Amino acid sequence: MNSTLIKVTIKMGSETTEVTPSISGIDSKQLECIPHLKLSDGNEMPMLGYGLGTANYKRGPNRDKFDEKLINDTLKAIKNGYYHLDCAEAYGNEPELGAAIARSGIPRSKFFITTKTSCRPGESIESAFSRSLEKLGLDYVDLYLIHSPFWAQPAAEKGLAQAPADLQAKWAEMEALKDSGRARSIGVSNYLREHLEAVLQTARHPPVVNQIEYHPYLQHEEQDGGGGLVQFHREKGIATVAYAALTAVVRAAPGPVDGVYERLAGKYGVTIADVALRWCLDQGIVTVTTSSNEERLKHWIRRLPLFKLTPEEVDEIAKCGREKHYRGFWTAKFAEGDWR
Ligand SMILES: NC(=O)c1ccc[n+]([C@@H]2O[C@H](COP(=O)([O-])OP(=O)(O)OC[C@H]3O[C@@H](n4cnc5c(N)ncnc54)[C@H](OP(=O)(O)O)[C@@H]3O)[C@@H](O)[C@H]2O)c1
Repeated sequence: MNSTLIKVTIKMGSETTEVTPSISGIDSKQLECIPHLKLSDGNEMPMLGYGLGTANYKRGPNRDKFDEKLINDTLKAIKNGYYHLDCAEAYGNEPELGAAIARSGIPRSKFFITTKTSCRPGESIESAFSRSLEKLGLDYVDLYLIHSPFWAQPAAEKGLAQAPADLQAKWAEMEALKDSGRARSIGVSNYLREHLEAVLQTARHPPVVNQIEYHPYLQHEEQDGGGGLVQFHREKGIATVAYAALTAVVRAAPGPVDGVYERLAGKYGVTIADVALRWCLDQGIVTVTTSSNEERLKHWIRRLPLFKLTPEEVDEIAKCGREKHYRGFWTAKFAEGDWR
């Protein structure tokens, strides 16, 4: 089916518009109606992804056991149109993701597969990447990320000033993968502005994305109200990928955005989780979520493209969100009150 021929109806208040599904108009890698974001290296990324972390993270004694349930859950996501799949060596489930891709019967070229390296001490990026590819059973990934900057030696305790030379040397190893074509795009995760600045000083291929915790209670703004991390990404052509976008709904409720989420959910006839996800998408932010509930997955992929928040509504949620701060991930690395 040629996706460029499909029209999608977008309803905004009383207005209805017909649009073609993909922002580039090329054959869609995902369901026809979720747009793709063009990255700075020219590759395209579906703006909604399904993550194999958090709830799907393999821990404890079963970490090395092949998990059929995880394969089936991932297959359910794929069957419902999630072709952007977010994994990491740390999640311990690259083999299950690889098995789900293989069993889906869907051509590899339709998927957008991300995995991440933990940068284990003493191990090269090449070695970590080869192991991930083998576990996935793939010969390339669409996006390879450094999972966090915290493997590098902190120059200052909880000051997060990882040594620039460490960050730059590791990035040069990532660039070699990009050159080889086995990682179509390369990026980072959980990097702060200072980490990105260090990498950008010497990068031949700048990181195309920074995957960060992002929701109304963690907007990464400067203490003085300055633009902060997301604005910095925009200035440098780095796409923001949000994880934990449902935080205000699932882990930090009740809170000051509850009222506006509920009002907008009522206005558009959607759920508050839809509003939370749309708040990221409507800022041009790629959003990776997850659910073990097939009805939720089905609902998001069908419902999210059919409404859009106005810029004023996006701003209203941001404004309410600034009244509370909450960080759910990597908390041990940050001092209390550090909301960068
Ligand atoms: N780079 C990093 O350091 C990093 C860190 C964290 C996550 N990630 C990535 O981002 C992905 C998503 O992260 P996340 O889990 O934090 O995403 P999230 O979108 O904030 O939360 C997803 C969770 O919300 C629950 N949920 C959804 N709708 C709900 C509702 N209406 N009521 C109650 N619960 C609801 C889901 O549970 P049900 O199963 O019950 O639906 C699911 O466990 C991960 O899988 C991983 O790939 C990356």
